[in-house]
Amino acid sequence: MTGHVAIVTGGTRGIGASISQALMKAGYRVAATYQADDIAAETFRRSTNVAVFRWDVSHHDDCIKGIQTVQQQLGNIDVLINNAGITSDSMFHKSTAQDWTKVLNTNLVSCFNMAHAVIGGMRERNYGRIINISSINGQKGQLGQTNYAAAKAGIIGFTKALALENARKNITVNAIAPGYIATDMVKAVPQEALDKIVAQIPVGRLGEPEEIARAVVFLAAEEAGFITGSTLSINGGQYMV
Ligand SMILES: NC(=O)c1ccc[n+]([C@@H]2O[C@H](COP(=O)([O-])OP(=O)(O)OC[C@H]3O[C@@H](n4cnc5c(N)ncnc54)[C@H](OP(=O)(O)O)[C@@H]3O)[C@@H](O)[C@H]2O)c1
Repeated sequence: MTGHVAIVTGGTRGIGASISQALMKAGYRVAATYQADDIAAETFRRSTNVAVFRWDVSHHDDCIKGIQTVQQQLGNIDVLINNAGITSDSMFHKSTAQDWTKVLNTNLVSCFNMAHAVIGGMRERNYGRIINISSINGQKGQLGQTNYAAAKAGIIGFTKALALENARKNITVNAIAPGYIATDMVKAVPQEALDKIVAQIPVGRLGEPEEIARAVVFLAAEEAGFITGSTLSINGGQYMV
């Protein structure tokens, strides 16, 4: 049992909910954040006993305040999982500036907001684990996802630079690039399009949120101190980097 405190953004639903539960099972004290869905968050809290906190990770000041609240209740944050994310798909020539800003702010700027709020404490304590959830589509691009692909590719560069800056402080920074995982985000894709996606996955199925969570637990461990700046692809063989 580690006793470390871990915060999982978007930790009440989908992949994040599995990550929160897996970290709790591994002995972390876990805070799961969410943006708006109080019912899902409360249901998750009741069924798991994971503490939940509501704020918008795309807002810098809200992240600072939110992290202070988490630290008062659970203690200093040793592990940050930047998981919260959204899509807003359309072909680039039809897309709007608002969609671009929202997707970039929620997926990428949120990583700055959250990491910036915890990195000072991690450096002072000479320990930290930061894991950023990217995407297969940030690695290979995808029709209708210029905004999302830009944000998720940006996460990979952010991960590498932050890893370099903090390597001597016993803080590792890694990314995970999931392929298509069976969550609400993917269930929103029309069935016909989903069938075509599954046909392109060599293992022949969507991934499960637990299959991402177990990699997070692996990278978050104290024993994973020599793994930093890496991007772990978990995509059923759909895209090999
Ligand atoms: N599913 C996939 O196939 C897949 C593939 C590759 C990468 N990913 C990435 O994996 C991550 C999780 O995806 P998912 O499919 O599990 O998503 P999901 O089921 O849609 O859940 C998203 C979670 O993020 C939270 N969230 C969204 N915007 C937020 C904001 N501005 N502030 C705070 N919390 C916010 C949501 O809160 P509410 O409950 O309040 O809405 C929810 O808890 C995302 O970064 C996604 O891009 C997913």
